Amino acid sequence: MYDYLIVGAGLFGSVFAYEAKKRGKKCLVIDKRAHIGGNVYTEKIEGINVHKYGAHIFHTNNKEIWDYVNQFADFNRYTNSPIANFRGEIYNLPFNMNTFNTLWGTSTPDEAKAKIEQQKMAAGITEPTNLEEQAISLVGTDIYEKLIKGYTEKQWGRSAKELPTFIIKRLPVRFTYDNNYFNDRFQGIPIGGYTAIFEKMLDEIDVKLNIDFFKQREKLERLANKVVYTGMIDQYYDYKFGVLDYRSLHFETNVLDNTPNYQGNAVVNYTDKETPYTRIIEHKHFEFGTQEETVITKEFPSEWQPGDEPYYPINDNKNNEIFKKYKALADNESRVIFGGRLANYKYFDMHQVIGAALTKVEKEFSS
Ligand code: FDA
Repeated sequence: MYDYLIVGAGLFGSVFAYEAKKRGKKCLVIDKRAHIGGNVYTEKIEGINVHKYGAHIFHTNNKEIWDYVNQFADFNRYTNSPIANFRGEIYNLPFNMNTFNTLWGTSTPDEAKAKIEQQKMAAGITEPTNLEEQAISLVGTDIYEKLIKGYTEKQWGRSAKELPTFIIKRLPVRFTYDNNYFNDRFQGIPIGGYTAIFEKMLDEIDVKLNIDFFKQREKLERLANKVVYTGMIDQYYDYKFGVLDYRSLHFETNVLDNTPNYQGNAVVNYTDKETPYTRIIEHKHFEFGTQEETVITKEFPSEWQPGDEPYYPINDNKNNEIFKKYKALADNESRVIFGGRLANYKYFDMHQVIGAALTKVEKEFSS
């Protein structure tokens, strides 16, 4: 008999399993995929660690979480500085003095601020009613047209005029020459890839892959006193209040022989509306690779249907109301601990998931 059946070998499930084992508990971890690591999984192709489910850059402001994750890996000094490609024009992201200089030739913060202010005034938007108006009222028309519109419309599969304002409450605008995407104190990529972190966390813990909890639910539940569930919350309750919507992605990965350097940066966003993908990831640059060949992945946003991989929750009013009903049931379960992005129907960065798992561990083992 196990103390915990952990559904999902992603970050939440693995941190929980590691901490439970440290406290002498016996865990069985299952995952319906053929590998551990969830969406953070990296696979070695031609000696390059490929981020199979999109670019993953670890960043946090929290020293405890940084120290925690550093028990399992050494991190390099990678700094996320994505590039935007708009019909062949190259811009630095996030929007900063370098971006403004390329766009307008401005060289001081005052010049750049004046330019943005002038465009905001000309647009005359006082109460934004959709994403387009919201973005223009925050950064003006040039940045919106070249760097936000096409990318966002591809990401969400509809016109920015039909998208709600809440998607972009704020936009990172920086009046310094600083291309570092994150403001956090700590940032990097684990040397040797993310999967090694999960191998260490799950060392000497029973892990069974290619097992879907719902295909043998009763049998699996009988194996343990408690369940830690990190899958989709609506599926756990058999969709009784309705299906929660997501946006999906698909990835196209190619090895390019005799190409040591394809795009000169790990992440290049394609911000026009004609290019069907939103970004190209060149994985070797996450770890300053010097191999003869390279591996690139194009990321295509797509509509989500039940059965597809759920990536981004659509946190509009309709879905949030449905989620609340499921959450009320989950809060009353005594034998099940819900955790991670799918059970909370919320986008979380990795450091947030580690923090949430450690909080649940604390609660579970202090009583
Ligand atoms: P995760 O989805 O990883 O794990 C859940 C596991 O449960 C999966 O392995 C799944 O197969 C399994 N499962 C589900 N249902 C099951 C069932 N019925 N039976 C058995 N197993 C089941 N964060 C960050 O900090 N920096 C970054 O750069 C990025 N980049 C990024 C890019 C993209 C494209 C996305 C979508 C996300 C990011 N993230 C990120 C976020 C990061 O991916 C996220 O924080 C973690 O993967 C969340 O870990 P979880 O354990 O919650 O879920």
